[in-house]
Amino acid sequence: MSQAENTQGTRRDFIYYATAGAGAVVTGAAVWPLVNQMNPSADVLALASIRVDVSAVEPGTQITVLWQGKPVFIRRRTEAEITEARAVEVSELVDPLADNANLADGADASDENRALDENGEWLVMMGVCTHLGCVPLGDGAGDFNGWFCPCHGSHYDTSGRIRKGPAPRNLPVPTAAFVDDSTIQLG
Ligand code: FES
Repeated sequence: MSQAENTQGTRRDFIYYATAGAGAVVTGAAVWPLVNQMNPSADVLALASIRVDVSAVEPGTQITVLWQGKPVFIRRRTEAEITEARAVEVSELVDPLADNANLADGADASDENRALDENGEWLVMMGVCTHLGCVPLGDGAGDFNGWFCPCHGSHYDTSGRIRKGPAPRNLPVPTAAFVDDSTIQLG
């Protein structure tokens, strides 16, 4: 074995497990070129708004997309997840506010005020723990079957609301809307 190979064997690669928890970033997320070609800040504008094709997202699964440099969770919830989220009284919550950029400040954190659609099938929120910014684990993780942040042990419910642990706020819902049956626009 050459000396170079020996040296390589002693090298350590560090992996931040918070990032690994984000899951696969979906490459199919289209960046919509809402850009004036003559504008010098064209690339900044391009990132201000993206459209995500969610036609392949099955109930009980989620995708993570990057938007403005941050992970966004897009989950298609099961009936059981929706029922569980809607059975919770706002008075039981650590953070009673919706933290939803699509609603007026002060809206309460009922599940109806968190979900993207009336039926509650779609939940879109920033994948950034409100404690110190790790990326929580999803797919039913934690004591409340939603998301769990392993950095310091914050548990979020099936509506992304903080229920236990040091995080002070619900996972924020960004500006989002369906622009057709299978496309969600962020921003
Ligand atoms: S960063 Fe999530 S619990 Fe501390």
